[in-house]
Amino acid sequence: MNDFDFLIVGSGLFGAVFAHECHKAGKKVLVIDRRQHSGGNVYCEHVNGINVHKYGAHIFHTNDKPIWDYVNSFVGFNNYVNSPLAVYKDELYNLPFNMNTFHQLWKVRTPQEARAKITEQVAALQINDPQNLEEQALSLVGTDIYEKLIKGYTEKQWGRKASELPAFIIKRLPLRFTYNNNYFNDRYQGIPVGGYNQLTDRLLEGIEVRLGIDFFSAREALTALAKTVVFTGQLDEFYNYRFGMLQYRSLRFEHEQLEIDNYQGNAVVNYTEREVPFTRIIEHKHFEFGQQPSTVITREYPEEWKKGLEPYYPINDDINGKIYKQYKELADQETNVIFGGRLAEYRYYDMHQVVASALHTVRLHLK
Ligand code: FDA
Repeated sequence: MNDFDFLIVGSGLFGAVFAHECHKAGKKVLVIDRRQHSGGNVYCEHVNGINVHKYGAHIFHTNDKPIWDYVNSFVGFNNYVNSPLAVYKDELYNLPFNMNTFHQLWKVRTPQEARAKITEQVAALQINDPQNLEEQALSLVGTDIYEKLIKGYTEKQWGRKASELPAFIIKRLPLRFTYNNNYFNDRYQGIPVGGYNQLTDRLLEGIEVRLGIDFFSAREALTALAKTVVFTGQLDEFYNYRFGMLQYRSLRFEHEQLEIDNYQGNAVVNYTEREVPFTRIIEHKHFEFGQQPSTVITREYPEEWKKGLEPYYPINDDINGKIYKQYKELADQETNVIFGGRLAEYRYYDMHQVVASALHTVRLHLK
């Protein structure tokens, strides 16, 4: 006799949405998480009244109205619009690449002048069959944008020279010929009022959540608690790495509290030079238009992932694709385990996508 209908391993957005829908449908649900807090990677730490995005900056954006309405049914969202800046040496640029960026680069003012400049630079390079990321990017945007805004940042992100990275990583590089600094093209965008914990706490309201429990520390006993396990952790770990370890890129965050009210005047500032070791500085208060007397900034350093570090970005190359496929074949044969979320599916999910995926999956299982 099982105590619960569902044991949900992981209280991130996938687990929290899944748990909420089951609870709402009258199912008995237990959520566990190996961390000491719920919310997964969208969790924020409260420092001097500021919500610090502990696992990386999170901006909710979507074109999907039902998903936007769904998250807004738990918490209101503010009207934050992501408009990052880029620092290259002593120069400052607007992102994404748009007419402001082109004016800053070349003093051009019209879309015709900007297009002509890019076309001229691309033509001069004569790259017809790009063999690597560097050539691919150069053939799309020309020398100036590549050298100042793409090369160093990309090399820091991947820990490798752009000329050694495969061309497919960059399929296209959107260029916007309007003076529009809004990073996302999506219709809806914002940050939950009061921070992301408001969203995940409300999703988990009324549900038993046990923290600091690693599923693998008592796998059999935990599995026996419920009819079905919903697993949102790492798929290779679930199968004891029998086909090898899936690889990731990781990040190291260096948080700093400063006794000034405003450090950089913007939430996100990228550092695109190779010589600056971090990729971005996040100033968290600006996500919520904070007026606190102090501030918290975070420098982001990409790093190689090894066991024990946070697995952030899956490396979706051929080798890892083949390993994942083997695990997936095992996963598909399970009758009382459901796999979902960014780690179990070994894919990068934006938040709106993971919410949509959890809703889709739970509806299949509650039928
Ligand atoms: P998540 O990782 O959130 O949750 C999994 C949970 O399972 C964790 O709490 C973990 O502790 C727990 N767990 C794992 N193994 C366990 C075990 N064995 N036992 C118990 N618990 C276990 N998206 C977006 O839309 N806008 C953005 O701006 C960003 N920004 C961003 C920045 C960075 C640096 C990254 C890496 C990602 C983003 N994202 C994003 C994506 C976003 O973080 C992502 O969509 C969600 O966090 C995915 O939620 P999940 O529930 O799948 O995983």
